[in-house]
Amino acid sequence: MSEITRFGISIDSTLLKSFDQIIAQKGYTNRSEALRDLIRDSLVQAEWQAGSKETIGTISIVYSHTTRELSEVLNHLQHRYYKSIISTTHIHLDEHNCLEVLIVRGQGEEIKKISDRLIGTRGVKHGKLSLTTTGKGLK
Ligand code: NI
Repeated sequence: MSEITRFGISIDSTLLKSFDQIIAQKGYTNRSEALRDLIRDSLVQAEWQAGSKETIGTISIVYSHTTRELSEVLNHLQHRYYKSIISTTHIHLDEHNCLEVLIVRGQGEEIKKISDRLIGTRGVKHGKLSLTTTGKGLK
């Protein structure tokens, strides 16, 4: 493990008060841990935005299986990108609506492309990509 460095921060008191309220709501017991998580998150964001690094993420999509040919189109797309899609869970939300959650792994730009294709498919009601990291390189 690398050594710990302490540093001071100059910050507007109103901004700090708001930050303290938010982190208390999230259950942090001190600012340091909250700040470390924020820094880690921005490093993860930078990592996947760099495009070529290995990234992992989840894509969720909501659609109606009764929409003409939509299930076939989505299935076709998922087979096309089978190398990056590790797992898919399909949940029938009601008589018509379905939720699919896909776990994807690969280069950031490839994952973004798969996500854009799926979420952008005509008839998909809602979609969300959440990217994280394999954890390598994060302390
Ligand atoms: Ni379904």
